Amino acid sequence: MNILQQRLSKLSPRQRQVLEAALRKAGQQVPTELADVSSAAEPAQDVISKAQLLQDKVPAAIEVKEKTQQFYTTISRQLNSSLYRQHARFLNIGFLDDGSPTERVVELPERVINRACVNLVLEMVGGSPLEGVELLDVGCGRGGTIDTLANLFQPERLTGIDLCREAITFCRDNAPADQAHFLVGDAEHLPFPNRSFDCLTNLESSHNYPEIDSFYREVARVLRPGGRFLYSDILPREKKSRSTAFLRDLGLQLMLDRDITANVLLSCRATGDVHLGAFPQANDQEMMSDFLGLEGSRAFCDMEKGIDIYFIQHWEKVHGR
Ligand SMILES: C[S@@+](CC[C@H](N)C(=O)[O-])C[C@H]1O[C@@H](n2cnc3c(N)ncnc32)[C@H](O)[C@@H]1O
Repeated sequence: MNILQQRLSKLSPRQRQVLEAALRKAGQQVPTELADVSSAAEPAQDVISKAQLLQDKVPAAIEVKEKTQQFYTTISRQLNSSLYRQHARFLNIGFLDDGSPTERVVELPERVINRACVNLVLEMVGGSPLEGVELLDVGCGRGGTIDTLANLFQPERLTGIDLCREAITFCRDNAPADQAHFLVGDAEHLPFPNRSFDCLTNLESSHNYPEIDSFYREVARVLRPGGRFLYSDILPREKKSRSTAFLRDLGLQLMLDRDITANVLLSCRATGDVHLGAFPQANDQEMMSDFLGLEGSRAFCDMEKGIDIYFIQHWEKVHGR
């Protein structure tokens, strides 16, 4: 920890938020060190428990983020103490082929670990050129996307950011290459100057953001003109239409819009039980089924019924914006 980080880490979470908000209001750049300590106080939980994570009232944005942090901190700690620790790099529910055309330009060998999760990354990237780019992965989790991109493409520099300190510590300890860097931070307030990246990826993370439009504004801000936003997530259909219109209004151009729900459902059927086996049985089983998209869970049924859609979009920031 540098001196600034040490000083900032002495502030309470509330004090850090007030400082961050004041800097933003004054149009000042929020230092990376502030973002990096802004989630320091993550209360530890041993198991995923509904009582701790759900509440009756509609929570404010800050409470949603605290609950998200708690959930992923517990998930990451449990994976760290499981047999899969080193290999548990992904937190997404994966993609399996259903016979329809695919977009990936890299074919994996028949037997490969985390095949469905790696394939989801490759489908999200499709044919986008990544050689020599500076790329930011928002909601990077345990670094699976960055690991895949570092191994299979030749980006110049990779940065991963996530709200969950535990996941970022795992990423740093298992960094795939010299060109990869990780920090704790919030997708809705990215601690980077305008026009910093050629490419921004976001995989199965944005559905957690309480103020998703702030994230989209940040995407448009930190991308360079001509830069790409490679986006994949599960959203209710109406919310996805709204988001698409919002991104267009920000001056981004939609290059690809693909429904991959059928492929994700196939993956959930094939991998859900294996993924569940990595976690303690003491976890609330309904919440875990939902998180992993197990057959019969609410998440699975909402996709099957067409209420939610799992999509891939490619956006380009128009030159001159
Ligand atoms: C389902 S996981 C996906 C992780 C990773 N993209 C992958 O495919 O393995 C969702 C991730 O989003 C992160 N996240 C949720 N809200 C966030 C926010 N506001 N800012 C940054 N990351 C966030 C969580 O901590 C979690 O690591």
